[in-house]
Amino acid sequence: MLTLDRVHVFIETSHILKDVGLTVGEREFVCVIGRNGAGKTTLLRTIMGYVPPQAGAITFRGRNLVGASPSAVAQMGLGFSPEDSGVFGSLTVAENIAMATWTRPTTRSAHERIALAYTIFPGLKQYARRKGTQLSGGERKMLSIARALALDPECLLLDEPFEGLSPAIIPTISEGMHAITQTGRSILLAASNIHHVPDYADRLYVLERGEIIFIGKPAEVYHNEHLLGIIGGMPLGPGERF
Ligand SMILES: Nc1ncnc2c1ncn2[C@@H]1O[C@H](COP(=O)(O)OP(=O)(O)OP(=O)(O)O)[C@@H](O)[C@H]1O
Ligand SMILES: [Mg+2]
Repeated sequence: MLTLDRVHVFIETSHILKDVGLTVGEREFVCVIGRNGAGKTTLLRTIMGYVPPQAGAITFRGRNLVGASPSAVAQMGLGFSPEDSGVFGSLTVAENIAMATWTRPTTRSAHERIALAYTIFPGLKQYARRKGTQLSGGERKMLSIARALALDPECLLLDEPFEGLSPAIIPTISEGMHAITQTGRSILLAASNIHHVPDYADRLYVLERGEIIFIGKPAEVYHNEHLLGIIGGMPLGPGERF
């Protein structure tokens, strides 16, 4: 559904993404993991049309994304929850979610789409009338994902969705993501902590200095000391994740 082939990105004179190839299939949950500065955010921003690639192909359902504006990419069905959440501070939670329904008209009504966002993140309901500036970092993260979901996307790009969340709430968000894939959507998640990657992920890419150096299942990384060394993770025993 989403394919990147030999993508290169330069920012000024720095070669940030090098020959990146990646695919996200229908209903797949795919993760990109890498330490700080590896290029995860640049990768998601390149897909969304915020950063132009200098070489390579990016397609979504057979349509070329290279050169498309971020709003055109969103209208094609790619929802984005950025690293800094991107929540509108002066708008309420309810208004932030409602705005996404205007961006992309689909066969689902605004009511259905808003209801789905609250079903996945029921904790947001109690803050519906609160302004974005009055939320904690974790609440903003949840709102950011809920808003991307209200776009009624076919694929969601989530940049560090667990960052700043208390360990107690991480399983809730993780279950919310699983529920999203059960609604027929796919997810591409970027994270710097391997232990935030849910076990149910279909595929994991390790990004190091802008290059994909490993493709496999999360479980292949949890105990691989070489890869853990590169991404700065610690080997953990069963039941010690999160
Ligand atoms: N606008 C920019 N100008 C110059 N360099 C940039 C710019 N944006 C990103 N970079 C550089 O590109 C590299 C990749 O950054 P990026 O933010 O994509 O990494 P990341 O994997 O998301 O890191 P983190 O885990 O800290 O979020 C870094 O070396 C960063 O300094
Ligand atoms: Mg980042």
